[in-house]
Amino acid sequence: MAPVATTFLPTISDEKTLRASFVRDEDERPKVAYNIFSDDIPIISLAGMDDDGSIRSEICSKIVAACEDWGIFQVVDHGVDAGLVTEMNRLAREFFALPPEDKLRFDMTGGKKGGFIVSSHLQGEAVQDWREIVTYFSYPIRVRDYSRWPDKPEGWRTVVEAYSEHLMGLACKLLGVLSEAMGLDKEALTKACVDMDQKIVVNFYPKCPQPDLTLGLKRHTDPGTITLLLQDQVGGLQATKDGGNTWITVKPIEGAFVVNLGDHGHFLSNGRFKNADHQAVVNSNCSRMSIATFQNPAPEATVYPLAIRDGEKPVLDAPMTFSEMYRKKMSRDIELAKLKKLAKTEAQEGAKKPTEVAVQPEKLDQILA
Ligand code: OGA
Ligand code: NI
Repeated sequence: MAPVATTFLPTISDEKTLRASFVRDEDERPKVAYNIFSDDIPIISLAGMDDDGSIRSEICSKIVAACEDWGIFQVVDHGVDAGLVTEMNRLAREFFALPPEDKLRFDMTGGKKGGFIVSSHLQGEAVQDWREIVTYFSYPIRVRDYSRWPDKPEGWRTVVEAYSEHLMGLACKLLGVLSEAMGLDKEALTKACVDMDQKIVVNFYPKCPQPDLTLGLKRHTDPGTITLLLQDQVGGLQATKDGGNTWITVKPIEGAFVVNLGDHGHFLSNGRFKNADHQAVVNSNCSRMSIATFQNPAPEATVYPLAIRDGEKPVLDAPMTFSEMYRKKMSRDIELAKLKKLAKTEAQEGAKKPTEVAVQPEKLDQILA
């Protein structure tokens, strides 16, 4: 069989029915349309945050409340240059419009760090995501490998450098607010990341012939500290705060960043701030693009609550490193997926003796999000 990358790209969006490898079990399929937008996720303006104490404390309370409630909110008036954001969007779109051979020059299959891949999904999982991605490992700067940064379209590299620097600044500012809310120094969360990693993932979701049967990106929480997502006006990002019973579609707002906390942020706050449970759905009318900037701790950084409030128990039994945390998450996800597959096969074939489930997470480098 030809590798997924080369068969998927040129033809998939021309096909009238969804290939079996993208069809999800019924319980995983979208429950809410990509374009029925909800106002439940707070939209917070950061205007005046740096120059006025009372405005700052008002903004901070909104951010803290959103993190306690959803673990996800949108920011506007965030100070990231609008022209830079437009350029980033334009060049990212142009990249996905390049012929497959240009994109595949940066093919990441086989565990290369950074570049292009079609439908990344966990090893051992049966169903593929309906997306293409291009990834830049942008921080720490000293380990940047420019040979893995797409050099087309022209000028993108410089724009990614500026974008990644501005988003690092915004992320640290937001982490400052959360640190203070935890009764700590402004730098506490950033310092707990040791040498903060940043990874930029551009998600491209082609239009899909049968969007009700599949997902652009399956349900997950981000593993890291905080994620800043720039999405276009199509819609497709969905969140749930009741374990997947109800889903809402986040309303796209021009120029806004959707901010969500990941597992690391959740653990460091001892569970006070939610790690947003989310997914992306696709549609049959048009393609969609989003640019996710993940701020992660260094692999060796310690994961353990920084503040435990009176009467609370720690959410973790013992400190672990971020790599360990990540490995456990992946193993758990893979195990769950395998158990689910097994249960399905057994239901189809009639009761059988349970089989041992072997869990083999991919190499950390390959999967570290
Ligand atoms: C992600 C993510 C959502 C989207 O990349 O982790 O959740 O709407 N993306 O693309
Ligand atoms: Ni995510």
